[in-house]
Order: sequence, then C-alpha cells, then structure tokens
Amino acid sequence: MNESYDASHTFSLCQRQLRRVARTCAFAILLCLVSQASIATAETGTASIRFDAATRIFRIDAADTSYVLGINEHQQIQSLYWGKRLGANDSFPAAKAMPGAAAFDLPITTTPHEFVGWGGGLYVEPDLKITFPDGNRDLELKYVSHHIDGDKLSIVTKDISRDVYVTLQYQADAETGILRRSAEIENRTDAPFTVEQAAAATWNLPRGTDYRLRYLTGRWAGEWNVQEQAVHPGKTVLESRRGTTGAQNNPWFAIDHEGNNDQDTGGVWFGALGWSGSWQISVEQDLLQQVRVTGGFNAFDFGYRLQKGERLQTPYFYGGYSSHGIGGASRLLHRFEIDSLLPHAPTPKLRPVLYNSWEATEFRVDEPGQMALAEKAASIGVERFVMDDGWFGQRKDDHAGLGDWYVNPQKFPHGLKPLIDKVHSLNMDFGLWVEPEMVNPNSDLYRKHPDWVLNFAGRPRTEGRNQLVLNLARPDVRAYVYGFLDKLLTENDIAFLKWDYNRNWSEPGWPAVAPEDQKKVYVDFINNLYSILAELRAKHPNVEIESCSGGGSRVDLGVMKLTDEFWTSDNTDAYDRLLIQNGFTYAYSPGVMMAWVTDSPTWVNQRTLSLEYRFLSSMQGSLGIGANLNKWTPEDFATAKKMVAQYKAIRETVQRGALYRLITPEDNSEQSVTESVSRDGKQAVTFAFLHSSRERYPFPRIYLRGLDAGATYRLAALDGKLAGDTPDSASGAYWMNRGVDVQLNGDFQAAAFTLQRVE
Ligand code: GLA
Repeated sequence: MNESYDASHTFSLCQRQLRRVARTCAFAILLCLVSQASIATAETGTASIRFDAATRIFRIDAADTSYVLGINEHQQIQSLYWGKRLGANDSFPAAKAMPGAAAFDLPITTTPHEFVGWGGGLYVEPDLKITFPDGNRDLELKYVSHHIDGDKLSIVTKDISRDVYVTLQYQADAETGILRRSAEIENRTDAPFTVEQAAAATWNLPRGTDYRLRYLTGRWAGEWNVQEQAVHPGKTVLESRRGTTGAQNNPWFAIDHEGNNDQDTGGVWFGALGWSGSWQISVEQDLLQQVRVTGGFNAFDFGYRLQKGERLQTPYFYGGYSSHGIGGASRLLHRFEIDSLLPHAPTPKLRPVLYNSWEATEFRVDEPGQMALAEKAASIGVERFVMDDGWFGQRKDDHAGLGDWYVNPQKFPHGLKPLIDKVHSLNMDFGLWVEPEMVNPNSDLYRKHPDWVLNFAGRPRTEGRNQLVLNLARPDVRAYVYGFLDKLLTENDIAFLKWDYNRNWSEPGWPAVAPEDQKKVYVDFINNLYSILAELRAKHPNVEIESCSGGGSRVDLGVMKLTDEFWTSDNTDAYDRLLIQNGFTYAYSPGVMMAWVTDSPTWVNQRTLSLEYRFLSSMQGSLGIGANLNKWTPEDFATAKKMVAQYKAIRETVQRGALYRLITPEDNSEQSVTESVSRDGKQAVTFAFLHSSRERYPFPRIYLRGLDAGATYRLAALDGKLAGDTPDSASGAYWMNRGVDVQLNGDFQAAAFTLQRVE
C-alpha cells in the first residue's frame, strides 16, 4: 500500500460480509478483518477508497477495477483513470488541467471533468446548468471538502461566488467494481433558482479513437435490439423524452475497442442509469479524442425550480469495467442486479413458474373461466396464477374502466375471494394486473376528476390506447393511487402485481401549480412512483411486483430497486424472442426476464413452432405460460409438465448463473446458443436454436465456456438431439475445447443439455 496515503482515510471491507454482520455475528467481523489485511492483493470482494493528501488524489479500487480522480490546480474535480485494477503501489502525479486548444477551446472544455457546470466557456455537454433570478447563467464549481465513509465517497463543490453547493457521490461495489454515481444540488442562496439541466455524472474513458458504442433500441413488440456504431468525433445522444424509460432507447451503454468479435475478451466500459423518467446519455468524442459519457435527467423541457434551502438529487448512474468482453460486462451487471439492487438482494427469491391469462382470454375474464384455467395451469406445475386485464370497473375492452379499481360485479359476483381461494387450493399463489397511473376518459374517476391528468389548460388531451396519464406528481393523485392499491392488497390475499403502463406522456402540463413549477413534473412524478412502490412494499412485504409497460418499455435500474421482475416484450413469438431476450441480457439479468410459452401459430407472425421449441426459448429466462390451455391436447399437457419440471431443476442456474452468449442471434444468424453456469460451478445449461438448415451443413460445434477444465461433468440432454458420439461424461477441458455437436436439421429446431459436475 502506498505509504503516502492518509491512513485515516483508508478503508476496505468485504461488502457482502458487512451486510451479514449487520444481521448477525462477530464471525463475519473477523472475516472482514482478514480481508482488510489482504487488500493489497485481493481483486474481488473488496472495495477501498483512499485519498492522498499530498497529491490530492482519490483512488477507488473495487473488485477488478480502479477509478482515479483528483483536485487540480483550479480546484476542479478531474478524471484521471477508469479501467482495469492497477497495482497497489501505483501512484499518480497531482491532477493538472489540460491546456486549451488555441483560443477556441479553453481549458474548461479540454479538461476531463467528473462533473462540470455550464460556465466559463464550456462547449462540451455540461452536467449542470442553472438560471438565477437575476439572469446570471454562469456556474463554476470548485472543490470545498470531501468525506470518505466506508465504500462511499462524497465531494462537496461550490460555485465560485454563489451559494450553490453540489455534492458528488460515489459508492463502490466490492463484488463487481461497479460504481454508483450521483450528485445532489443544494440551493443555499437567498432566492429560488431553476436547474435547467442536471446529470448524475460524467464518465471519462481513456483517450482513444477506435471505440465502438453498443446501445439498445426498440419499439412495442420489437424491444431490445443491440446496435453498434463507431464512436466518431461529435456526439451521440441516447434518450427518452417520453416521461418514462421507453423502449426506443434503453438507458444503458457499453463501449469497447472496435473489431473485437469475441464476447468474452477485451476491455469494456459500461453504464446504466437508474431513472424511470425522461433521461439522457450523451457519448461525446471531443477535439482531443477524449470520450466522455454524461447521463442523467433529460435536459429537453427540463426546469426544476429549487427554493432556498431545497436540494435536488439526480438519478444514479452506475458504471463499470470488464476485461472479459461484452459478455463479462453483462455478467457483472447481472451479478450486481441480483446481489445489490433487487428488493431482496442479495438473496432475491427465484422466480416462480407463472401462468398469465392475457393471451388466452384478453379482457374476457370471469370467475368460472379463470378457475378452469387455474386448474389446468396447476396440473403442469405452475406456481403462480396471474389474472390480467379486464377484472375491474366497466372494463370490456381498452376503451373504459382504467381508474375505477373496484371488482367488476358481473364478472366476479362474489369478489375476488372465491378465485383466490381456488388458486390457493391448487397450491399456487395469486397475482393481479393493474395499471395505476392511467385513466380512461370513459371512467368514473375521470368524470369526477378531469383535472387529475397531465394536460395544458385549454389544449387537446391526446389519447394513446384510449387512455390519459394521471399526474402522479399531484399529492391527491398520489394519495388515490396508493390508497386503492393498499386497499386491494389489504383486502385480498395477493402475492403479485403486474404493474402496467401502456402509453407515454403527451401535453405534460400541471396547471394546478405556478407556471415556474410546472416542469417539476418530470422529477416529482417519478419520485412519487418510487415512493408508492416503496411504501406498498414496506406495508405488504410479501407482495412481489412486475414492471411492465406494454412489454419492456419500463426497464431500468431505478425501478428495479422496487420491483422483482420485468415483462420483456408483448412479442411472445419464441423465435423473435431469441433476439429480444438476447438484447435484454446485455444489460439485465435473465433472472428478471419474464418469458411466456404462448400459442402457435403466434399472433405476432403467424409462425408455427413446436411446443418444445417454445418452452426452450422461454426457459432461457424466467419461465411463464401464457397459452390458452383450453385448447391444449393431452400430449401438450404431458410435454408441458415434463418441461416445467426440467425448468425447475435448472432455474437457479439460468436465473442466477453466469451467462455466456456462445452464438448470438444478431445479424440474422441462423443459429443461437446460450450457456449458463451456476454460481457454485456445479451445473451448466446450454440452449441451442436453429432457424433453418441449408445444404446439409451441420450445426456449428458448441464450445462451452466458464467450466473448470480439470473437473468432470456428466452430460444430460433436456430435449436434445445430441450427436451419437457425444460422451456421457468428460472433463471441462473436453467440453470447452473439443466441444459438443447437436444434430439439428430443418426449420425452427431446438435442443438443450445440462452438464453436471461430478464430485
Ligand atoms: C399490456 C401488457 C400485456 C397485457 C395488456 C393488458 O399490453 O404488456 O401483457 O397485460 O397490457 O391490457
């Protein structure tokens, strides 16, 4: 350890161990002490934050990552390094601002900042822009103080003349090296001012010209497309202006060096925003070939008036580095989500196999129909029965009922209890669909409170799916939404809510508040959503929640902290799903990726797929069944029963394990192969899919990854067409280097097999 580091500011701990300390015992304290002693060499499971008072440099080391920043001669917080972990004794000279580039680009623009205000001639993306009541719009932030508290660092900065304080916050995850960054803006001036742009953070990459950006785009029924493009001079903006996360861009990015075609090698810098409102991530390569990534609230139409004494907390921007390629970056994110983000992290429950009625019945739900489906679902091993849209108000189709959250008396004359009791008697728990933030104009709620929706006074209210968006920023709307959900969960034994959100914003006005406060809706709406979710969870701790938005339009690390799973896409065509699920897993864990087996031919493409194929496609995530079981044959039930049982035997590996994309379905690939290796290394599960074979070419040989070369693994086919010469058991080295041949011929064929480590 570098002697010049101020010992009082040195901290290291095993984060996972510390959590257990809080719960129980002194034994873990001992373990922590042991790991503190080995900080200089340990690469995983440790986080340390150190400040060198002589050079005024902060160094954050966590898992396999180092992150270094310093206070430069102008008292600005300057980025120095982000990447693979450095040697314990490596030191950095004091930060020094970059020179300007001629008279046109001043040092404020050329210097890589951690967080920079708009002022003093800045031309790159600012992190913060403020308009003061006197018209001044210049902001220059300088270091004031810092505080290190375990795995957290906060740095207080302040404007050169005004009492605007901005605290930069960092938290390091010991297991993955992922850093959580955000900023808190505080008004200590005597008057209100308006924040016009606020990012959580800027990430600066090592200078370079051969970078490639990956990001995710999509649309309804076609989410999760992975895009790639070279990072060129100029700026690429990923964003949502929709008031919600959106599927058109998802708030995730990954940058690596161009031309690296291996999923599991090479350096990758990645990040994701935890925010479910309008957001923005800009990736900018400047004139000196520096690449910076700035993200937070979307600046478009933003304006948050901060009163004297008030604070504005930005979203969290998570960032990490992997030296194991884009596959390694995904695995770090998956691990972080499961171990640190999900509501029950580090031990979230495995997803139960669920049945959902939507595709079978659409809005035509009633007591006998749902009971009949429940009986059939239970017979194949389903663990959770979910009734979807149609059970409430005057809901016959999507023209009416949203907002009126009473049980429809024609469809359920005795309330929900008989159905819930029936579901319980079949050994399943019960889930229900809700869409709390929406209202149909044809509803009692809207007739009573037409002023409760987002709107500009006297302007049209544009409908999407015949519905309007309730302004959740309003305290009365927040109280109504919390109130009906709390009542629903108090009066009924409900284990699960599918929380839907089927349109984006239009006319985002809030006429009830002063004009200068109306744009607060972009922040207050989302914070109220989060606080409702948090309060409901606190009061009903056994209830699980799925975030759905007409499919995967509200998936991000913000809502993930308050929900247990995501609806990936309304597109349930098992072949389309290979591409959709592939994209989802770049940023999000298969353990939160809901995947239903539905009917064939699919409503999406009229494509015919075997039941086995549909199951294997869905078994790559968290399995659900969404088919019309009334139409199934006895053979279908037998197949489904067998495959649900197989899924239960592998689900921990799929939901918690390390995912390897052996052949991606991208670029119209004829094949797709994934492998998941369990945390304990005892099981590996491989899924292989063929689109269509040609000219008698065999399926490419499958070379497994992530196994212990010296260990022995026994092979078992799930629904497999393995080559005749495949051994029953062999070493990890064999499976990884000699590989496995599957015999897939024809159109839309699938196979799966497991490897079980032999003790
Ligand atoms: C959305 C969801 C579907 C279903 C319908 C109900 O589209 O994504 O799964 O719940 O709403 O109206």
